[in-house]
Amino acid sequence: MKFFIDTASLKEIKEAEALGILDGVTTNPSLMAKEGIKGQNNILKHYVDICNIVNGPVSAEVISTDFDGIIKEGEILAALHPNIVVKVPMIKEGVKAIKWFTDNGIKTNCTLVFSAAQALLAAKAGAAMVSPFIGRIDDSNWDGVQVIEQIVHIYGIYGYKTEVLAASIRSSLHIVKCAEAGADIATCPLSSINGLFNHPLTDIGLEKFLADYKKLNG
Ligand code: G3P
Repeated sequence: MKFFIDTASLKEIKEAEALGILDGVTTNPSLMAKEGIKGQNNILKHYVDICNIVNGPVSAEVISTDFDGIIKEGEILAALHPNIVVKVPMIKEGVKAIKWFTDNGIKTNCTLVFSAAQALLAAKAGAAMVSPFIGRIDDSNWDGVQVIEQIVHIYGIYGYKTEVLAASIRSSLHIVKCAEAGADIATCPLSSINGLFNHPLTDIGLEKFLADYKKLNG
């Protein structure tokens, strides 16, 4: 499973990249706002800065909701860097735009997906990635991981090439569950990636190994 980081923070992206296990980045308008990135030029420059840190797909989201607007924005975003993937919302105009981008060689990530039905549409339009928001599905008293399982199953039956990108990850356990469910990618906050390292027996074991070494070698 590929690991993406879900943030617009250059500091966090650099920290995750330094671990040597980072495959890509996803952002969204809320994450950009959290970093205080505003104004078209600054936003575009920020995407280029991210692309210069990570050698992998970087999702940059459109804010238009009509076909023409989505296409115009997507073309500008895609021209920024070869690693840019245009993130398009799961709405009718978005699906039409995804099909257009697919036909014109521009990779897309279909976002705000909450059901297998929506994921089916994204795959049919040729999205390179589909982003089910598993944390938000859990918040609505449904099982986000189960939706991942369903999508992976359906894509497998028909051989769809669209990668299942589990988003809205809230914990390290979510990451493991998505791996178990066969997600192609998990996009995670840095805290959830860091949480994967933790096990008390590792700490206890390491402490003992070092203490035993020190006993003999000073
Ligand atoms: O990747 C989507 C993500 O940024 C949404 O996460 O925690 O706001 O549901 P969250």
